Amino acid sequence: MTMMHLGVFTYPGGHHIAGWRHGSVMPREILGYDYYRGTAQAAERGKFDLVFVGDMLAAREKDGRVIAQGALNNIDSISILSAVAGATERVGLVATLSTTYNEPFAIAERFATLDHLSGGRAGWNIITTANDDAALNFSRKSHMEKTMRYQRAREFVDICKSLWDGWQDDAIVADRAAGTFFDPARVHGIDHRGQFFSVKGALEQPRPPQGWPVMVQAGGSPAGLEFAAMVAEVIFAAQSDRQQAIKFRAAVKQRMPGHGRDPALLKVLLGLLPILGSTEKEALEKEKMLNELLHPAVGIWMLSEQMGFRLYDYPQEGPLPTADIRASGGAFTPRVEHLMERADREKLSIRDCGVLVAASRSHGSFVGTPEALVDHMKLWVDEGACDGFNIMPAWFHDEMDLFVDQVVPILQRRGLFRREYEGAMLRDHLGLPIPAASAGRLAA
Ligand SMILES: Cc1cc2nc3c(=O)[nH]c(=O)nc-3n(C[C@H](O)[C@H](O)[C@H](O)COP(=O)(O)O)c2cc1C
Repeated sequence: MTMMHLGVFTYPGGHHIAGWRHGSVMPREILGYDYYRGTAQAAERGKFDLVFVGDMLAAREKDGRVIAQGALNNIDSISILSAVAGATERVGLVATLSTTYNEPFAIAERFATLDHLSGGRAGWNIITTANDDAALNFSRKSHMEKTMRYQRAREFVDICKSLWDGWQDDAIVADRAAGTFFDPARVHGIDHRGQFFSVKGALEQPRPPQGWPVMVQAGGSPAGLEFAAMVAEVIFAAQSDRQQAIKFRAAVKQRMPGHGRDPALLKVLLGLLPILGSTEKEALEKEKMLNELLHPAVGIWMLSEQMGFRLYDYPQEGPLPTADIRASGGAFTPRVEHLMERADREKLSIRDCGVLVAASRSHGSFVGTPEALVDHMKLWVDEGACDGFNIMPAWFHDEMDLFVDQVVPILQRRGLFRREYEGAMLRDHLGLPIPAASAGRLAA
C-alpha cells in the first residue's frame, strides 16, 4: 500500500483567515520562537515529513487599502527553520525564498547552511513571488512579467545546483597532522555568464548532506507547471477539486521525461484545511463559529485579489456581479470560473463568496470526523490526485494537536502513514535519492 506524505504549512495565527481570533491563540505571541517550535515538535511527534514556512515580500496593502483584519504574513522562513532545527531531530524543514528578489549565490549559501545545520533536512520552496507589490520594496517599478520570472528562476536554480555540486563529496580531508582542511583540487568553482546572472567562484562550504535541498515548487500556471516538471521533487498544490488535481498531477508527470526526469520522483502535496469534530454536526458548528469570526473586509479583499476584479464598491449582501466580472475581460483561472458558476447557480452573495475564498485561503478543506477525513485523504491518494497533504490547521496550536493526536493514529492503523521515521534526512522521508555530485554542474 502506498504511504502518504504529510507536511504542515505554518502560518502566523492559523490558516483559517480568522483563526487568529480564536480564544486559544495569543496573537502577540505568533512571532516568537515558542510558536514555531511548538508546531515543528507537534509535526515530529506525528512523524510528519516536513514543516513548511512561506515568504511574502510585501505587507497586505492593495489599491491603497491596508488590510489590517487578517493575521500577519510570514516572517523570514529560513530564520524560523534554522531556529527550530535545534529543537527537532527528524522533521524536514522547507523554507520559501524567491528567485525574483534574490541572488543565486546568497540563496545557495543559505540553503547549504540550513542543510548542514539540520543534518540534511532542508527543502527549498522555489517561488517567483506571487504579489506584485513586492517590486516596490526592491527598487523596481513593477513585478517582472511571468514568463520572464520563470526564465530567471531556471537560470537561478541551475546556478545553485552547480554551486552545491562544486565541492566533491571527498573534498574535506580534515588532516590535522598535515594541516590540510580540504583538497582544492576537489573544489570546482563556476564561471557562469547568462541572461540574468554572472557568478564566478565556489561556495564557501562543502556539498550539503542531501546534495541539494529538496526542490519544492508551488506555482500552478502553464509556465509554473513546466518549471515544476523541470525541477520539482515536491509540489505544493492548491486544487480543491479532485478531478482538477488528478489532471494537474498527471500533466506535470507527463512532462518530466521530456526534461530527462523520472515521474516517480515527484510528490504532490495538496493543501488541506481540516475542521474536525467528534460528530459531523460538531465539526459544522466549528466551521460556522470560524466563519462568523471572519471580518467582511478580509473576505472582500481576498475575493477581489483572486478574481482580479475590485469588488469593494459593490453591496456585500448583493449577488456576486459575475456579468461585470466576465465583461472586464480578465484571464480567469479554472478556480475563479468554478466559483462564478457556483455563485450563479446557488445565488451566492459577495459576502458568501468571500467566506468561501477566505476561509481556507483557496486550498481544499474538509469538515467532519477524523475517520471521515482519513477516508477522504485515502480516496484522493488512491485516485492519483496527490501523494499526500500539506496540513493547514485552522489555528495553532490546538488544531494541529488535534490532527496529530486523532487523525495520524487512524492513518497509521490503516497502514497509510509511517509509525516511525526510517531515515534521518528529508530525502529519506520522501523516498528521494541524493543527486549525483556531477548532476547539477554547469558546463565551464
Ligand atoms: C502551498 C502554496 C504555497 C505558496 N507559498 C507562497 C509563498 O510563500 N510566497 C509566494 O510569493 N507565493 C507562494 N505561493 C504562490 C506560488 O508560488 C505562485 O506564485 C502562485 O501559485 C501562482 O502561480 P504561477 O506564478 O505559476 O501562476 C504558494 C502557492 C502554494 C500553492
